Amino acid sequence: MTVRAGKFLGCALAALAIAVAGGAIHPFGPVKGAVRGTLLDGALVDPETLATIERSCGNCHSGGTKWPWYSYAAPASWMLERDVSEARSRMNLSRWSRYSAEERETLLSAIGAVARTGEMPPQRFTLLHPEAKLSPADRSRLYDWSRKERRRMRRAPEDPMSQPERKSRVNGWRSETERGSYSSM
Ligand code: HEC
Repeated sequence: MTVRAGKFLGCALAALAIAVAGGAIHPFGPVKGAVRGTLLDGALVDPETLATIERSCGNCHSGGTKWPWYSYAAPASWMLERDVSEARSRMNLSRWSRYSAEERETLLSAIGAVARTGEMPPQRFTLLHPEAKLSPADRSRLYDWSRKERRRMRRAPEDPMSQPERKSRVNGWRSETERGSYSSM
């Protein structure tokens, strides 16, 4: 091996070691170990809208993040963990039923707004995950749902149907099949 090649290999190995060691450091806390939970627990959401939200928003705004291989090596790991930790702190769809009615209404209007503007999912994400892009039909469906759900919550604040999470709880989490949907109303 030439001296040059040896130096290069040495540098490459050092960089790899730093990336692997850095991947074990989590400056934003245990972001990767979050509880999954049910998406939008307690909300009334049709399966199509739920699937859209899961596909386009769930990776950052829920505990169900699918971490790609490069998210385990620094510094990419830090950037991704920061993004997800910030996204969850603003809105965590896995903790929906723990938000107050007021918080949920605020988040629903924010969802409607970003669905309209196309601000979310962020472009830096859809460049790598084109499947997460919202089509114009997805956007209007998401917007319509956010308004419908907000109206439902306002219409019957004391109606048990407006808090369906109270109706059947199994160990605190409801399964997918127990969740209400508009089609069953
Ligand atoms: C790549 C990760 C990522 C994805 C995917 C993503 N978001 Fe976000 N979202 C963020 C981050 C980070 C923030 C906070 C910083 C900001 O506003 O840019 C945020 C903020 C928000 C907010 C603002 C919450 C508030 O405080 O008012 C809403 C609403 C939102 N996102 C909705 C969505 C919806 C709806 C989708 C899916 C269509 C989505 N996001 C997809 C990362 C993401």
